[in-house]
Amino acid sequence: MGHYKIDNINLFISERGTGQLIVFVHGFPFDHTIWDRTCNVLQNDFRVIAPDLRGLGQSELPDGWNITPMEQFADDLHFLLPRLGIGEKRGEKIVICGLSMGGYIVMQYARKYRNELAGLVLCNTKTITDSPAVAENRRKQAAGLIDGTLELRSIADAMIPKLFAETTSKEKPEIIQELRAVIESNQPAGVAAAALGMAERLDTTELLGELEIPVLVICGSEDQFSPPSEMKPLAEKAKHGTFAEIPNTGHLPPLEQPELFANTLKKWIHSLPQ
Ligand code: MLT
Repeated sequence: MGHYKIDNINLFISERGTGQLIVFVHGFPFDHTIWDRTCNVLQNDFRVIAPDLRGLGQSELPDGWNITPMEQFADDLHFLLPRLGIGEKRGEKIVICGLSMGGYIVMQYARKYRNELAGLVLCNTKTITDSPAVAENRRKQAAGLIDGTLELRSIADAMIPKLFAETTSKEKPEIIQELRAVIESNQPAGVAAAALGMAERLDTTELLGELEIPVLVICGSEDQFSPPSEMKPLAEKAKHGTFAEIPNTGHLPPLEQPELFANTLKKWIHSLPQ
């Protein structure tokens, strides 16, 4: 647990356990805590690392910074890992797992640094770009956050009803309150920079088809952002793809069903070639 300086800013990282390294990359506009419950399950078997991305959670944004491309987030992680003593042992490879925006980021990691990867996990995400309307909406959102006409509370109000499965809303309302607090405590400038970065991201579908590494595609059965019907084809597109659907779950399986999510991941990691 701690802060590490990269590019003159402090990035926060939660770290625990020993063994095969798994790096968890959160979505938008969240922070590392979406992985806490899952890491509680996995920490007995693996070394689990969950950073706050630049400008989100406890991680800083450089002065005057206004857009964070997905590639920049991936570069931050790449330069951060050696600081944690990772990659120093010959042949040590990591499993990297990204949820939603985190998925856009881990695809950039795979594009640039695939030799470092033992496996790639795409969780509730997509490989296509935004439609022009979605991209425009993100630009408006970023402008509103910067000029103060849009509050993070309004972003939480708009997102939360679509994020969770019915079971979660009924049986685990505390999770929803926790996530609301995470969204509302973020820095508007960091959220705006990530939104602009997402709006200009490139399509990575063809890249997915070229990767030689094992890919696990996981999704919640009730996800409205990246439904199973859109995620299953990603596993089929990958050369070495596996698909898993987590029942009674929306956009946030590591938070909504941490045991099931963690055990699915664990089983897949144990099946990877040594
Ligand atoms: C996320 O959870 O990261 C967002 O839904 C991603 C997006 O807005 O495309």
